[in-house]
Amino acid sequence: MSSSINRELLSRTEVLKSIEKDIENNIDTLLNPISTSWQPADFLPDLQTDEGIEQLHQLRQRAQALPDELIISLVGDMITEEALPTYMSWFNRLEGFHDPTGTSSNVLSRWVRGWTAEENRHGDLLSQYLLLSGRVDMKAVQITIQHLINNGFDSGTGTDPYLGFIYTSFQERATKISHRNTGRLAAKAGDKQLQRICAAICADEKRHEEAYQFFIEKMLQIDPNGVVLAFEKMMRHQIAMPSQSMFDGKDQNLYDSFSRVAQKAGVYTANDYAEIVGYLVEKWNLKNLSGLSNEAEKAQEFLCKLAPRYKKLSQRRKLTNDPIDFSWINGKTLYA
Ligand SMILES: [Fe+2]
Ligand SMILES: [Fe+2]
Repeated sequence: MSSSINRELLSRTEVLKSIEKDIENNIDTLLNPISTSWQPADFLPDLQTDEGIEQLHQLRQRAQALPDELIISLVGDMITEEALPTYMSWFNRLEGFHDPTGTSSNVLSRWVRGWTAEENRHGDLLSQYLLLSGRVDMKAVQITIQHLINNGFDSGTGTDPYLGFIYTSFQERATKISHRNTGRLAAKAGDKQLQRICAAICADEKRHEEAYQFFIEKMLQIDPNGVVLAFEKMMRHQIAMPSQSMFDGKDQNLYDSFSRVAQKAGVYTANDYAEIVGYLVEKWNLKNLSGLSNEAEKAQEFLCKLAPRYKKLSQRRKLTNDPIDFSWINGKTLYA
């Protein structure tokens, strides 16, 4: 038993090794150079200047018009981004990923550090925006972040890099959709600047999504059976949301509360989940993969039928309309 597991793990590491060249050849476009990267300060008032103080007043005025549902979605998305230490440590636990010194020059280590450094701007920007907006109880939000990082997060991938890259292919697209929809709602409420903030983050998520999907594409060329089976396994397990263990010290079902509001506001819905599954099946051309093992063929069939099934389920899903008190907005009650 253990020798077959070892063989399997070894081959996964070998597959990963063989796509390292592809990652190396593309890393400079999959990650942006720091010299041209945006920074949170580019989107926020410079409080060193009188002009910045005036911009702060305008930012606060615009934020007053934002619906509470949008603020809750934004806070939930920000908290998810702020649990970045959890995601970086998860990456470094995956088979084949090793950054023993913390400054290792192998391409996977550079990828993880570069990705983390880009992602770190997302939580910073949203958190600083929310602080300046005057719309949230920052202490309640910060308590939630501390709980979330303290509680940890089990993605369900274990240390399997196949499951890891499928998970991130899915999750980066999910966050992209969520930031994009939040930006749309902000523009609708008259806040074009908040839309620009969401668009900047969204563009990063899009690039990351494409990177992970490209890695899987390359792995499919080498080990189609293994990748298809991993995709099936990940989907049967259901994609765990990275902030599902958030807690503010009060609401025992805080993640559920947040996701119900996000669903009702149209920021991230069950239909989006179905759309992402369908997109990945198309993107990796699963329908036309041939020469698969019997087991992988069954997985292929299962995966190709999954998106329409989820779509149907999402249409049947009844929206709830129960009162929820959010500590993030001083205990105000929303209905979702
Ligand atoms: Fe992000
Ligand atoms: Fe991301």
